[in-house]
Amino acid sequence: MPISYNESARIFKLRAKDTDYILKVAPGEYLAHVYFGKKVPDEDLTYLLRLDENPFTPETNNRDKACYMDTLPFEYPCFGLGDYREPAFKILDEEGMSACDLRYKSYRIYKGKPKLKGLPATFETEESGCETLEITMEDKHAGLEAALIYTAFDRLDVITRSVIVRNIGEKPCTLTRVYSACVDFDTNEFDMITLNGSWARERAVERCRLHHGKQSVDSMRGESSHQNNPFVALCEHKADEESGEVYGFNFVYSGNFIAQAEVTQHKKTRFLMGINDMDFSWRLESGEEFTAPEAVMVHSDAGLGKMSRTFHDLYRNNLIRGEYKDKRRPILINNWEATYFNFNTEKLIDIAKEASKLGIEMLVMDDGWFGHRDSDNSSLGDWFVYEKKISGGLKSLVDEVNKLGMKFGIWFEPEMISPDSELYKAHPEWAIQVAGRELTLCREQYVLDYSRQDVRDYVFSMMKNILDSANIEYIKWDMNRQLTEVGSNALPANRQRELWHRYVLGVYELMDRVTSAYPHILLENCSGGGARFDPGMLYYSPQIWCSDDTDAVERLKIQYGTSMCYPCSAMGAHVSDCPNHTVGRTTPFATRGHVAMVGTFGYELDVTKIPQQDRDAIPGQIEEFNKYNKLVRTGDQYRIGNMFEDNTWDSWMFVAKDKSEALFEFIQVLGRPNERSRRIKLKGLDPDRYYFEESQPEIKLSGAALMNCGINIGGMWGDYQSKIMHFIAAE
Ligand code: DGJ
Repeated sequence: MPISYNESARIFKLRAKDTDYILKVAPGEYLAHVYFGKKVPDEDLTYLLRLDENPFTPETNNRDKACYMDTLPFEYPCFGLGDYREPAFKILDEEGMSACDLRYKSYRIYKGKPKLKGLPATFETEESGCETLEITMEDKHAGLEAALIYTAFDRLDVITRSVIVRNIGEKPCTLTRVYSACVDFDTNEFDMITLNGSWARERAVERCRLHHGKQSVDSMRGESSHQNNPFVALCEHKADEESGEVYGFNFVYSGNFIAQAEVTQHKKTRFLMGINDMDFSWRLESGEEFTAPEAVMVHSDAGLGKMSRTFHDLYRNNLIRGEYKDKRRPILINNWEATYFNFNTEKLIDIAKEASKLGIEMLVMDDGWFGHRDSDNSSLGDWFVYEKKISGGLKSLVDEVNKLGMKFGIWFEPEMISPDSELYKAHPEWAIQVAGRELTLCREQYVLDYSRQDVRDYVFSMMKNILDSANIEYIKWDMNRQLTEVGSNALPANRQRELWHRYVLGVYELMDRVTSAYPHILLENCSGGGARFDPGMLYYSPQIWCSDDTDAVERLKIQYGTSMCYPCSAMGAHVSDCPNHTVGRTTPFATRGHVAMVGTFGYELDVTKIPQQDRDAIPGQIEEFNKYNKLVRTGDQYRIGNMFEDNTWDSWMFVAKDKSEALFEFIQVLGRPNERSRRIKLKGLDPDRYYFEESQPEIKLSGAALMNCGINIGGMWGDYQSKIMHFIAAE
């Protein structure tokens, strides 16, 4: 029974595997946060709220209720009643007032997990069941109800949260902030870990000690962004990969977000996560409701590694869907870095012919096949074949590729419109815009107004024409600019600020439509590289292009940071040509393969032009990928090296769930004098079993020795060298 209610103490307790989350209806019918951490026996933990010490408890001292409001740890704090910490909820009522006051009304506990209307969310599976607590809060004066929805997973240290606000009054009300989660921690002794970056260097790990005041990461770009990922971990100062208490938070949303930690005057921490309220408002007419997206909360009592593995399990099993969820993905070759816009049918067939001989399984035709697109300055929205390039039409190209024994995939950027397009000529009003203001170009394109059903219907019908015209088995869904001049020609003035969120809902709706209509198609998300690598997107696509930076060394950091909460099996990773197109670095072909092999794997190069020795290496590389892919897709990941701390080497492992085998990878980034042998302690093995490395079956060592004493990695000559080892448990 993961959720219980102690009626006399008025305490709710959620048990998620080894984690407890406890809340209480406190004096005044305020909902207070009591505890979040490692599981404890059933007992009354009300003492943690210090209500008896609190001179400000309204029951005993109503002359200073404001102080009670400013000190109680709230589950869902409202604005304007004396709690001067950041609120989770704020309104603007018809009288122009912003104070609001949600108090406990009732609760419901039920098996399973509800879907969130129009939004991606984790779900229950047969293997990992869950139970849900729904607490209804009410603001009688404003005529609002808020359902705080908590789900506890029985086999994972995971609790998810979302909020549904309903207008049960007579008058309309405007919501100006509806965050999804708030946790009032009783300490400020935390480090905050965030994933920050830019184009081509996404999700760099940054760790800072919390300080007084507010520290946050956010996006106001209309997408989750290259710059900040909707992920935060709060951890003990001493926490590392293997030890220490860690709280991981991730937002299942692909638009504007905020994740903020505030250290208060009393050295406590309020953590908040939700849709960014900058430029947000949502009008609720009487009877209407608003659903805030899901926030995932993971607790680990054994460091960052365990936190990440919990996220990986949750997302692999309880978020990612579709036919490819548990399947090896086809090994693809994408023509972007091979040709950019300069390709035609013959070129693509040449690439496919060579690729098919080497064992590559799918050709992906990237940007430039539609309208009259020869560079990034035209044709977005004109989703019909550019005959000059694709002479003979799409079907004949796809048939040719299929005849070679390869699948065919195609690129779309469905949310965009070029000023130089037939679509823009016909429907300039379909671009997101503020009437009378100059529209800001980015990559010479505008963004379509996805709050409009007619726009989504049109794009779907254009995509459908293409998808029905040939045997297409993969889509790369790109999004190459952020939103500006955010206004819609279809919304009334008092709903314009809803556009940011309506846009994201529109994107989700179209992705849902495409994936439902074409369940056999593998969808890979992408946003100028990895600007939308978030759990919202993972609900629709089992893989996301990680970054436009395909350099094997840069990728070490990018994939490490991404692995904080996202599984490797979802990371789009390709072997590309050298010197690398983003950083100009030349790395060995083998190292490029070893780095890409722990992602979805594929090639992004002109296979007809690369050096013969690289071409010759491809079949072996594919064999290696095939050999280890199941382990990478389903095993537990252990990070060993950390390029953010020591950029001369990196290392990681994937260990089978039953501990029967493990893949170990080591990258010597810089060759260094007198550092020619390194002792590396393995992780995640069974200490009591004996293992041998596949190439030396005669040497058997216990898991305990391999993990406590370690192995010697002999020196390698040169920079960017890699080594992989396969440990197998002896029977
Ligand atoms: C950005 C993507 O990340 C690239 O892989 C490529 O598809 C280009 N867009 C095409 O415009």
